[in-house]
Amino acid sequence: MRDHLELFLNGQSERIAGADAFRTVANWLREFRGATGTKTVCEEGDCGACTVLVGTPRAGSLDYKPINSCIQFLFQLDGTHLVTVEGLKLGDQLSAVQQSMVDHQGSQCGYCTPGFVVAMSALHESAPGITERAAREALTGNLCRCTGYEPIIKAALDMTRGHGKRIEELYPSRPIAAALGKGAGSVRVEAAGRTFFAPSTLDEALAFLAEQPGAVIVQGGTDFGVQCNKRGLRPDVMLTLSRVEGLDGISVENGTLVVGGRTTLGSLEAFTRGSVPSLHGILCLFGSPQIRNAGTLAGNIANASPIADTLPFLFVCGAELELASSRGHRVVGINSFYKGYKKLDLAPGEMITRVRIPLPGEEETVRLYKVSKRRDLDISTFTAAIRMTLDGRRMSGVSLAYGGVAPVVLRLPKTEALLEGREASEALFREAGEVARTEIAPISDVRGSKEFRTLLASNVLMKFFHEEIAGGPAARNTGAR
Ligand SMILES: Cc1cc2nc3c(=O)[nH]c(=O)nc-3n(C[C@H](O)[C@H](O)[C@H](O)COP(=O)(O)OP(=O)(O)OC[C@H]3O[C@@H](n4cnc5c(N)ncnc54)[C@H](O)[C@@H]3O)c2cc1C
Ligand code: FES
Ligand code: FES
Repeated sequence: MRDHLELFLNGQSERIAGADAFRTVANWLREFRGATGTKTVCEEGDCGACTVLVGTPRAGSLDYKPINSCIQFLFQLDGTHLVTVEGLKLGDQLSAVQQSMVDHQGSQCGYCTPGFVVAMSALHESAPGITERAAREALTGNLCRCTGYEPIIKAALDMTRGHGKRIEELYPSRPIAAALGKGAGSVRVEAAGRTFFAPSTLDEALAFLAEQPGAVIVQGGTDFGVQCNKRGLRPDVMLTLSRVEGLDGISVENGTLVVGGRTTLGSLEAFTRGSVPSLHGILCLFGSPQIRNAGTLAGNIANASPIADTLPFLFVCGAELELASSRGHRVVGINSFYKGYKKLDLAPGEMITRVRIPLPGEEETVRLYKVSKRRDLDISTFTAAIRMTLDGRRMSGVSLAYGGVAPVVLRLPKTEALLEGREASEALFREAGEVARTEIAPISDVRGSKEFRTLLASNVLMKFFHEEIAGGPAARNTGAR
């Protein structure tokens, strides 16, 4: 078992031992590697100034994705190649992205610029012919306070000068992936009273959790990192599943979407494009590309926020969670998993290993709604999933789930019963809205008042009626709104 981390930084191998393993990536880069191009501003994943590229070995090569380095800890990056804004140059020559930002005057104070450059470089890697829409979507995780976005978008669309080399040409992936592969196996770092363990098998992970039931599982760290930076969370024992084989898959088995316990939201977004449009639509509005590349579906479920964006869909699909511990395996329905605010049917030493989501049939209508103060990179005020089969206007198999209206996501059994088997009409949906209001218990907070959320609970039903039923079948199944 290794007692230190091994990774690459801009093509150079790094061996990290002791307390450094517990630093955030951004702080380590800036304070210990002099890589001050990576900026920190919000330290909670919201501004993108700290964006770096992380190359993860896949089939002998490296798959690069942008992530927020302020809410990632070094121990999460063991076995990867980290590329920062400094690593994009070739000698004194700027990359095509960097040169384009200069040519289009995409920078004023410059504080956000490295983050934009790295996020744009990721887009440039994945899609050589970039559309304006793709550029805007790729940059939703990056904020600029002074330049304005037009010059930045122009820069993203015109990468004709600079050295023009791709990451693969700057840092051939095979030797790096091969060197990282030599460090396979489990990793345990202990320093200053803290322990980090990255097991290579599920059995090792479960044995460790049995010994250390208070250990915190850290996956993408997109909730965990914010808790550490903003709320002073400092657990002594942490476990990541990043080296455990077989927990990162996604497949469809007999109409059930099976998602591994460490599958990222970004992988799920890519997988569901075209095949599960309602879920894909809501995933496109989840955080930012940086957040989706790190965050996992299991983390969204286990974090147990009543406004977690994936939950209403999982509720109306009757998703099942496979849980494992050293005592064995069991399956729990998502509809009974939450026992109260942040209280789960998850025993000490237990973890989510798989999420099974029976997919709605093609004849069914499923709509997911996210209400937030802005479209992208915002926490929901209210979420909803509405599922039913429509035969003309007759409704059957009605399932409704709302988030942001109680300490946990709620199904609405009385409203479902009112609609079930009935002919849809505006009057019936208005009545359903009145019943829905009696089934929720919203509170007021910074994102919205109790009254606003109550209004949304009925208005979302009217929206569904007008768009999906009165608007006709052509309006159906086109994604989340
Ligand atoms: C800027 C920003 C934007 C965000 N936007 C959204 C958004 O639009 N919608 C939304 O719903 N959320 C959003 N989030 C919240 C967060 O990204 C999600 O909840 C994400 O899914 C968490 O996954 P993770 O892998 O990063 O979890 P982590 O932070 O690693 O873990 C979260 C919790 O889950 C536990 N856990 C993780 N995996 C397991 C497992 N397999 N078994 C048991 N317990 C486990 C951890 O111990 C921890 O308590 C946002 C967060 C940030 C910082
Ligand atoms: S510093 Fe703002 S996202 Fe990291
Ligand atoms: S150039 Fe100043 S914040 Fe973007």
